[in-house]
Amino acid sequence: MSTNYNLLSYDKIPSTQLLAAEMIADGEASDKTIIMAAAQSAGRGRNTRKWVSHHGNLYASFIYKADDERRPTLSYAFAVAAAETLLSLGVPVQIKWPNDLLADEKKIAGILLEYCRDFLIVGIGINIKTNPTVELYKTTKTDNYAKGLTPATVLNELIKGFDKWRKADFSAVRKRWMELSINLDSIIKYRGKSAIYCGLNENGAMIIQVGDKYELVYGDEVFT
Ligand code: BTN
Repeated sequence: MSTNYNLLSYDKIPSTQLLAAEMIADGEASDKTIIMAAAQSAGRGRNTRKWVSHHGNLYASFIYKADDERRPTLSYAFAVAAAETLLSLGVPVQIKWPNDLLADEKKIAGILLEYCRDFLIVGIGINIKTNPTVELYKTTKTDNYAKGLTPATVLNELIKGFDKWRKADFSAVRKRWMELSINLDSIIKYRGKSAIYCGLNENGAMIIQVGDKYELVYGDEVFT
């Protein structure tokens, strides 16, 4: 591994995210620890969804001391970092609000940020060899775009990306996030209403236009 992270690697465990939280609760966690698993039996996605986790893909949770890591805009920074990583590996991804990564409009990776005591846990799943069939959205995998990637090679690049973008000014993150965003200026569904998605404001809120009014959206799910 390229930088000063502590990597804990497992074959199959219930969830790297869960193990990270347990380590924090037991006082065993330290800043810049990565928990990686080859597969998960109880992988967790956002909004209490499951994250199907067969062998062949990347499943990792990064633990950071949260002293200066509580900015709500961090979620965008990690999305940009993961997108840049996949782009650098030849996978043409875009970001769907707030931090899903899509290739050809199909989900290829997901990011889950959770705070636990004094720590931030950044969970990331990237489909490399397999992509599950899920009801809510279409999925794809990096193998469809760049052959031969492995969880270890992707993780190595991801670490560099995370280190670069988590410390970056939000103005830089916001600019890149909007360049990579899949549905800027397009019609989205927000709480049952049609709206035009206009971008992010300087605090990370999503700006949408409903009729002739502008609204700010903070934590809700937006549908395309
Ligand atoms: C999403 O719903 O888009 C977020 C998915 C996050 C999945 C990753 S896989 C590694 C880590 N462990 C988990 O149980 N979940 C996250």
